[in-house]
Amino acid sequence: MSEITIVEVSPRDGFQNDPQPISTADKVSLIKKLTKAGLKHIEVTSFVHPKKVPQMADAEAVLDKLKNDPSFKKTVLIPNDKGYERARNSYVDEVNWVSAATNTFNEKNIGMSIETNDQLFQPVITKAKEDKIHVCYSVAVAFGCPYEGGVAHKDVLKQVEKAVQLNVDRITIADTIGYGIPSEVETLMKEIVSMVGDIPLAIHLHDTRGFGIANAYAAYKVGVRIFETSVSGIGGCPFAPGAAGNLATEDLVYLFERMGIKTGLHFDELIEAANYAATLTTNRALGRIRHIEQKFL
Ligand code: COA
Ligand code: ZN
Repeated sequence: MSEITIVEVSPRDGFQNDPQPISTADKVSLIKKLTKAGLKHIEVTSFVHPKKVPQMADAEAVLDKLKNDPSFKKTVLIPNDKGYERARNSYVDEVNWVSAATNTFNEKNIGMSIETNDQLFQPVITKAKEDKIHVCYSVAVAFGCPYEGGVAHKDVLKQVEKAVQLNVDRITIADTIGYGIPSEVETLMKEIVSMVGDIPLAIHLHDTRGFGIANAYAAYKVGVRIFETSVSGIGGCPFAPGAAGNLATEDLVYLFERMGIKTGLHFDELIEAANYAATLTTNRALGRIRHIEQKFL
């Protein structure tokens, strides 16, 4: 029985910005290794414009190869209604609707304002409820924007409030660039925890300045139990200059297991997946942890 949930995002966030093409077969092999390590929830790809993010052009093909594997929850990132239709046709379990706390990031990332994005979201969530597809609402650049700089908490809370009112199935607060620091994570996430009620709340962390693990701990302390991370720390958004890799899943698992908090993952298999992910990508640093010392098991 695990006490926290990890949503593994390496097949999407980890690969989306890589300059070398990664084959569908290699992506599927990584996903199989991740499930072998015990991951039960994976963001497998995104349904975005193939010219904007060429690495995700094979989204349908990846999902087709996974359709007979019910062992994990399949999430895909979507930016608009067209993305929803593609996701629906590929029998996903959850769509991750990406919004942002600033207008400039929204414009650069998905070519529309927050207001337009909200208008597009309304019919999508209605359809998803009919289709019995879960909807996660992600608030990108919640701790800082590469274009607008500091982000006021009220702008993040406004987005969260809308998601709560629409009764989404999960909310993710994303530190897209890795600007967050633990004290701020604690303050903001504490407030959000008190707003979301029963809606599961996740934090999505990048490790750009080495604060990813400290930020995860800060979020845990105020009640966050879902963490979006990426094996080997691969990751980064093509529309967020300066964004380095995600917090490495293995680093997070090491921390929690050492704290006596069950993650439900098999560490050796996780490291195997992390090493494999690193071989598929270019210029990516490995996570810091490669094994758990016997004395701590
Ligand atoms: N998947 C595939 N194609 C899509 C699409 C989707 N989800 N949404 C729109 N398109 C296509 C349209 O069909 C149209 O095609 P055409 O030129 O052949 O007629 C074209 O894209 C332009 O449509 P438009 O609605 O004007 O989109 P846009 O050019 O403003 O782009 C997004 C909007 C959201 C599709 C684009 O900005 C995008 O894919 N962003 C990627 C965001 C991302 O992945 N960020 C990293 C993760 S946070
Ligand atoms: Zn990210």
